[in-house]
Amino acid sequence: MFNIYIKPTELCNLKCDHCYIPLSSRENSFKMTPEQVDYILDQCLNFFSDLNKVNLIFHGGEPLLMGVGYYGKFLDKLKQNGVENIRVSFQSNMLLYNKEWKLFLKQNKASIGTSYDFFSNFRRLAGCTDSKKYFILWTQKIKQYQDDFRQRVYTITVLSKQNVKYIPDIIDIAEELGLNLKLNPLYNAGKIKADYKSFSLTPQEYGESLKIAYRCWQKYKNKGMVIEQCKDMESFVTGESSLTHTRCPYAGNCVGHIWCIDPKGNIYNCGCDVQLGGKYYMGNYKIGINKEKYIKAKAEDNQISLDCYECGICGGGCKLFRDKKTKKYLWCDSYKKLYKEVKNAFC
Ligand SMILES: C[S@@+](CC[C@H](N)C(=O)[O-])C[C@H]1O[C@@H](n2cnc3c(N)ncnc32)[C@H](O)[C@@H]1O
Ligand code: SF4
Ligand code: SF4
Ligand code: SF4
Repeated sequence: MFNIYIKPTELCNLKCDHCYIPLSSRENSFKMTPEQVDYILDQCLNFFSDLNKVNLIFHGGEPLLMGVGYYGKFLDKLKQNGVENIRVSFQSNMLLYNKEWKLFLKQNKASIGTSYDFFSNFRRLAGCTDSKKYFILWTQKIKQYQDDFRQRVYTITVLSKQNVKYIPDIIDIAEELGLNLKLNPLYNAGKIKADYKSFSLTPQEYGESLKIAYRCWQKYKNKGMVIEQCKDMESFVTGESSLTHTRCPYAGNCVGHIWCIDPKGNIYNCGCDVQLGGKYYMGNYKIGINKEKYIKAKAEDNQISLDCYECGICGGGCKLFRDKKTKKYLWCDSYKKLYKEVKNAFC
């Protein structure tokens, strides 16, 4: 299975303060043209002769801004090339969700994941200082989506100093709204960089917040709620899976499994890499994928610390967040804390 994150545009209809995409790109971004899309898919189809299962994740910026017609053409091209097994999802702020999108999603068996950072004022509508206004619109869209699909909505919540003390409330609200959660730490990127220390969590604080989340989740897990990091760690502790993927489902082993394509048609190892400096740039839609860069990136995936070889909890984490010298993973202590909490609950 290949996971291709496509950012057809970095334009966005929100002005989130924490967003790792520069404001200039959110206001004035390239839009990936249908011609580029054709080239990119050809490059992928040529590079991987066995590309018959694809997980397409449309990201951004705000992917719904491109309209349903754009994505229809995209999927037709893949099908014409014999790629039948395509799973499509969108990562969206939901503002543009409507009946037209409902129809498109149903026809293509696609889904939408969203984002909301409860008890934080990062997310807001353009020109609006009150972040509650967006929350009201967002909850209306969530309800509409649930009426249409009768399923929980996967929601990324960024944790920072602003909201970390509200974990129990966040989880209660998520249950009320019918959400599944992924609790991510704030990254040092975008506008927030200038004041990162005052907003960000330490690995210890993030670990404590995951422990609290794990305890609170017990009330709701039998009702079907998923908190991704908690469920994942539980599967690891109970032996259902051999590795956790708490930070990212591809942690420690992503090269060759995941690609990110930006609006100009540049190809990267992953979307986080693009925002954190683009170290793993692999080529673009015209020249194709550079095999040497690909091999180098694959080798770096495997350069984990000796401790990680022995520990195995998260496979050494993501290479973007490893210390250059020691190879220690930034969120190592957080996951060890969560691991201990889950293990104590079971053993
Ligand atoms: C860049 S947005 C693009 C998709 C869509 N516009 C959305 O907000 O869901 C993807 C995700 O990145 C998260 N994100 C943006 N900047 C971040 C940062 N500095 N630290 C952690 N997550 C961040 C957002 O909160 C969102 O969940
Ligand atoms: S986090 Fe998403 S919704 Fe917010 S500004 Fe960035 S791209 Fe737009
Ligand atoms: S580079 Fe890191 S965040 Fe990106 S896919 Fe790989 S492990 Fe995940
Ligand atoms: S030592 Fe830390 S980073 Fe390495 S596998 Fe264990 S938890 Fe993950």
